Amino acid sequence: METMQAIQSDKGVAVTDENPYLPENVLDPYPLYARMRKLTPVVWLESVGVWGVFVDDVCREILLDAQRFGSAGGGGLANYYREKPWREPSVVFEVDPPDHTRTRRVLSRLLSPKTVKALTDRTAELARQCVASAYAKGRFDFVTDLAKPLVMQIVPDALGLPKEGRENVLIYNKYLIKGRTYGREQPWTSAEIEESTRVVEWVQQICDRASISSDGLGAKIYAAADAGEISLHEANMLIRSFLSAGADNTFGSISNTIYFLLSNPEQWKRLREQPTLARNAYDESLRYHSPAQTIARNTRMALTFHGANMGEHDKIMMFTGSANRDPKRWEDPDAFKIDRNVTGHLGLGTGIHGCVGQMIARMEGEQVLAEVARNARSLAFDTAPVEWLKSGRAVSKLPVVVVD
Ligand code: HEM
Repeated sequence: METMQAIQSDKGVAVTDENPYLPENVLDPYPLYARMRKLTPVVWLESVGVWGVFVDDVCREILLDAQRFGSAGGGGLANYYREKPWREPSVVFEVDPPDHTRTRRVLSRLLSPKTVKALTDRTAELARQCVASAYAKGRFDFVTDLAKPLVMQIVPDALGLPKEGRENVLIYNKYLIKGRTYGREQPWTSAEIEESTRVVEWVQQICDRASISSDGLGAKIYAAADAGEISLHEANMLIRSFLSAGADNTFGSISNTIYFLLSNPEQWKRLREQPTLARNAYDESLRYHSPAQTIARNTRMALTFHGANMGEHDKIMMFTGSANRDPKRWEDPDAFKIDRNVTGHLGLGTGIHGCVGQMIARMEGEQVLAEVARNARSLAFDTAPVEWLKSGRAVSKLPVVVVD
């Protein structure tokens, strides 16, 4: 597609008709990202009517400036200042200080060294069990037979949620992603409206105090409500955010890492020789292709930013997946290298909204990958094709075979 590069006087920066949300760009965004990085540091995406940022330094500048760039306008293309959200917005992701400071504090406090140690021990044990039972099959799907069943036990169990119905979290998350472009695509069908309403209600009910155990992290969130730090409703909503954020992104990114390793046999060999690289390998996968390719902010006031004439509450989409491949920030950015210094990638965000569960995600990634790397037997792609989610976030099917 032709890229318009003209600087339009009213916008102040390059205006482009390229559309990062077209299915082909979603599934392989990197050629588009490279073209976009050659334009001005901020561009106007005419096709979707929002500002776009594709370079590392400007993404970082926005993420670190919560005074001028807020989250209350929603985590996707849909602009809550101008459009009705598909469901009640998150009380941590989609809120600005001072409310954000209050709710975030409750979540940050949950992850004490003692809690992280207990979660690590449990994950290591589950990783041993899940790897052993998957490998015993000889060939298996890394996503559905290993990463997903393991990850879906860590955060939900830690929160103290019942075992039944956890598949609903993934259906909820499907709508969460769909909701990010709410109002900008085909109207939702009545079946979609019905199902999304059902899962929102399910999640609300499952996060209710009556549904959760009295000794998990969920109970600690309710204790913060008892202490008057947050309301009971906010407690329910915080559990929702923690539950939903800790699910498919985590098993998707762990599976992606295996896919990138098997696609780069010398890196796979390196990890098998040195399993202590597992944590860095997982982080490199989050730089190379994070399930979170974009982060949204809205301007909190009208301003001129890197030449862009922004109105109050305008939407800015940061393509952090592009920032993570920015050659000005990363050497040889399109190469997957498990021993590179990967500190500071934006795959988990940064600033006041930077992923509050990153310690858990990294811990889960490290435990699973190290267990796989240490195994006497190796893995190879099976003959059935690898499949990706339509959202491009992660592999959905990763058939592998156990080899000697
Ligand atoms: C690989 C897996 C994960 C990825 C790629 C990921 C990605 C992200 C990103 C990019 C943000 C920043 C959003 C923004 O700035 O608007 C974020 C925030 C957040 N993440 Fe994660 N995350 C992951 C795992 C987890 C886990 C395991 C949990 C919980 C156990 C979690 C809970 C959260 C929460 C609650 C926030 C909101 C923080 C705030 O707004 O202050 N995430 N995550």
